[in-house]
Amino acid sequence: MCGIVGYIGKRDVAPLLLEGLQRLEYRGYDSAGVVITGPKATGLKMVKAKGRVRDLEAKVPKRFTGTTGIAHTRWATHGAPSDVNSHPHLDPENKVAVVHNGIVDNAQELRAKLEADGVVFASETDTEVITHLIARSEADTLEQKVRDALKVIEGTYGIAVMHADFNDRIVVARNGSPVILGIGEKEMLVASDVAALIAHTRQVVTLDDGEMATLKADDFRTYTTSGASTTATPETVEWEAASYDMGGHDTFMHKEISEQPDAVDRVLRGRIDDRFSTVHLGGLNLDPREARTIRRIKILGCGTSYHAGLIGAGLIESMARIPADAEPASEFRYRNPVVDPDTLYIAVSQSGETYDVLAAVQELKRKGARVLGVVNVVGSAIAREADGGMYVHAGPEVCVVSTKCFTNTVTAFALLALHLGRVRDLSVTDGKRIIEGLRKLPAQIEEILKTEEQIKEIAAEYAGAQSMMFIGRVRGYPVALEASLKLKEISYIHAEAYPASELKHGPLALIEPALPTVAIVPDDDLLEKNRAALEEIKARSGRILAVAHQEQAKADHTIVVPKNEDELDPILMGIPLQLLAYHTALAMGRDIDKPRNLAKSVTVE
Ligand code: M6R
Repeated sequence: MCGIVGYIGKRDVAPLLLEGLQRLEYRGYDSAGVVITGPKATGLKMVKAKGRVRDLEAKVPKRFTGTTGIAHTRWATHGAPSDVNSHPHLDPENKVAVVHNGIVDNAQELRAKLEADGVVFASETDTEVITHLIARSEADTLEQKVRDALKVIEGTYGIAVMHADFNDRIVVARNGSPVILGIGEKEMLVASDVAALIAHTRQVVTLDDGEMATLKADDFRTYTTSGASTTATPETVEWEAASYDMGGHDTFMHKEISEQPDAVDRVLRGRIDDRFSTVHLGGLNLDPREARTIRRIKILGCGTSYHAGLIGAGLIESMARIPADAEPASEFRYRNPVVDPDTLYIAVSQSGETYDVLAAVQELKRKGARVLGVVNVVGSAIAREADGGMYVHAGPEVCVVSTKCFTNTVTAFALLALHLGRVRDLSVTDGKRIIEGLRKLPAQIEEILKTEEQIKEIAAEYAGAQSMMFIGRVRGYPVALEASLKLKEISYIHAEAYPASELKHGPLALIEPALPTVAIVPDDDLLEKNRAALEEIKARSGRILAVAHQEQAKADHTIVVPKNEDELDPILMGIPLQLLAYHTALAMGRDIDKPRNLAKSVTVE
């Protein structure tokens, strides 16, 4: 969703900001804008455009020079995508410029008051309210003007503010929407995502909620919204700038699918303890005694992360014998859930920013629950809010649809399940067996990736389908759910997932030659049951693609994947189906990295 980038220093700021906006494109947006100024009192110069960053670039005049600026990619919430609704927003005197991520909840009320006072609004946005409030403050400093405005604002924000009369600084503030400072040599940057910073600096400071900062070319300081100084020690970002390039692949999705052997290797690295047949997860902040007192585990996430959580719950139940389940965080927070002190809550999120997950975590913490995070983005809001947790170390995921992060999250859950299991009743022998299985994963993923040509041929056959069914049982069902989500997100083919056991309770009515079924058929204790489902489909002339450990006689196609331990098979069985979704969408000419209507991080309700 929305993205912010800002710079103050000596360099020509417009190209730098436009490049920063391009780095944020993956988050999803519908319009963009930039405002700049120079060291001399030249006033603010602004360009905004509906559409892509390249449309904005095309509108930037030749003599658009300056050394300080803020820029934004907008994903419309209040007011349609348009030039005028794009950020930055200026006051009528062109003195104050604001870019904003988040939502001002009391915008209507504030707008009405301002209009009653004679303020004329240029746009339909909630953000413009902030601009007018800052412009109307009579405080002597920009910092105080911003504070005055924030005092009356309810909602979430990450903002960056420039003022023509204070052109030696950018003032930023955070409440619920990320603001990251990039510390350079005689230059400072700010962004809502490290992607826009790391080409310039890897030294960053992530603001906390309720924190503000003033950036000058050679200095920065942080303080609370009530003005008290805070300490900010820059941290080094480990992700490489190159991770945000396609590295020879045609799409980020393809690149990220192919990175999975390395990514899984990273989530395992340094964590396995052969001596005790367990794993070390230092960040959990959960000692063995506490781990033994957990009576239930509730996993919360959205979309793909929810599906990873479903597999995670199964892993925890089978290895640690702790009752566990997963629920969409977006539903959980609205049903006034019973929060039980003996339940461990686990929030799962690639971005660590998804609003529904963050809000669920905050609600749980308010009620005194212990919440762990299973997160990819280091230092993200959910990681910071949680009492402990583990990073999944997938590296930056740029494609809107999640692939490598799903695989790494599920692998991280296998580590957590093993850890909890070994603290409780999982035997040394089973611990060893799981560790051996985990170690095999990267090579087995390599093997699956080699079947891409076969999958591409199968995808060509399915590309014309109107609708597809995905089925699996127990461990296979979340794999089916995730595979169906992947297909619908990027190909726009309608797809639904069912437990194979539920077929004859309804969905069997849909089966006919025009509705292909993708079946997850692992060689486990449910093999014969799964085969019976294939028989039922075949008897109704349904077409079947099986993902299995051996050729399936009843299937029209079988993608054979290597066998691992039963518990770990779901990690591998999802991978060919990522490729199936990819090649189906490619054959249909879809914009794979930026599917319609979707954003990488859903930071609003
Ligand atoms: O960043 P998160 O893992 O919290 O994101 C959750 C979902 O929005 C995300 O998984 C979404 O479903 C993706 N488009 C999946 O491909």
